[in-house]
Amino acid sequence: MSGGEGTVPAVGAGIPAREYPVTARAPGKAILFGEHAVVHGRPELLLAIDLHTQVTAHRAAAWSLNRRTAAVRENPYLAALLADAGPGGRPLALTAVSRLPRASGLGSSAAFVAALLAVVAAGSGGSGRAALAGRGYAVERAAQGGVGSPGDTAATVFGGLLAINGGPGPVLWEASDGKRSWAVRRVADPGWTWVIGYSGTPHDTAATVRAVGRRLARPDGEALLDRFAAVAGDGIRAVAAEDRDRVGALLDENQRLLAEIGVSTPRLEELLEAVRPASAGAKLTGAGAGGSVVVLPRAGREIEAVRRLARAGAIALAVRTAPGGVTLLEPPDPEGEAAPPAEGP
Ligand code: PMV
Repeated sequence: MSGGEGTVPAVGAGIPAREYPVTARAPGKAILFGEHAVVHGRPELLLAIDLHTQVTAHRAAAWSLNRRTAAVRENPYLAALLADAGPGGRPLALTAVSRLPRASGLGSSAAFVAALLAVVAAGSGGSGRAALAGRGYAVERAAQGGVGSPGDTAATVFGGLLAINGGPGPVLWEASDGKRSWAVRRVADPGWTWVIGYSGTPHDTAATVRAVGRRLARPDGEALLDRFAAVAGDGIRAVAAEDRDRVGALLDENQRLLAEIGVSTPRLEELLEAVRPASAGAKLTGAGAGGSVVVLPRAGREIEAVRRLARAGAIALAVRTAPGGVTLLEPPDPEGEAAPPAEGP
């Protein structure tokens, strides 16, 4: 399924100021090329997907999440956000719902943080997207023990198809951890349908990133990173050129590299094998060691790819690009709802 001409959505407006209650929705993500290598400054290509996390905030006497005040200490992302914001923020009762399974490689934590930051920003004068992304990345890093790239944050805040440290065009947002820096650019979106298969096994991103760091510290580490970079660079060009066969071949090649650094598992390989007849190419997405696979189906075989993954025991979904990033939902319009049916002629 091609969307015809590639489209590059503009950066949407930021988060406006609003009275509470406020609801924000933030998309998840799938990584097409370059996870793990991006942590070491190499290129990555990822897309925001149309599965969202939604957070609603009401003014309250004390902070709570899904009616639990203890969750404020126990949830590492909320705890990091409040530590970052300082004690000045007025408390909110938060409720969160998500279509993204947790720790599945689909960016559930970045989406939760972005939606959270958006509802907080709405009550304190609003925020531009770059500022929101900067805060989101700081919160994610703090909650994950100081490891990770800003890729997931960029996808959920800006939406669309994004290249990190690759691709042509203007830079949307830049981030740095003091040692490395990452420049985020938009890539024209071919409008394809992708298929996700969640293995049902959650993973630990920070532990996997550290294990890969140890693997890459060996003498062949730099050469391995260069191979990841070459595949991601070719992948970014092939997606922009809407060359499905080439993108598929590069996804498979990226998967072989991920297996080489030790983050694929027999279960993920089983899913990739099951979907192969309907797939132009496929790989794990995210940290690996559990989590999900992302599949570029052969044209017209999207449903077959979903069925094959489901039959192999995955939670399988067809997804498309979420063109916009985190956004506030419009409050219900009481006038509109109460409006009488239009009079007949
Ligand atoms: O598994 P996830 O969704 O947390 O994605 C991790 C992606 C890595 O490249 C492995 C880490 C990162 O921060 O970019």
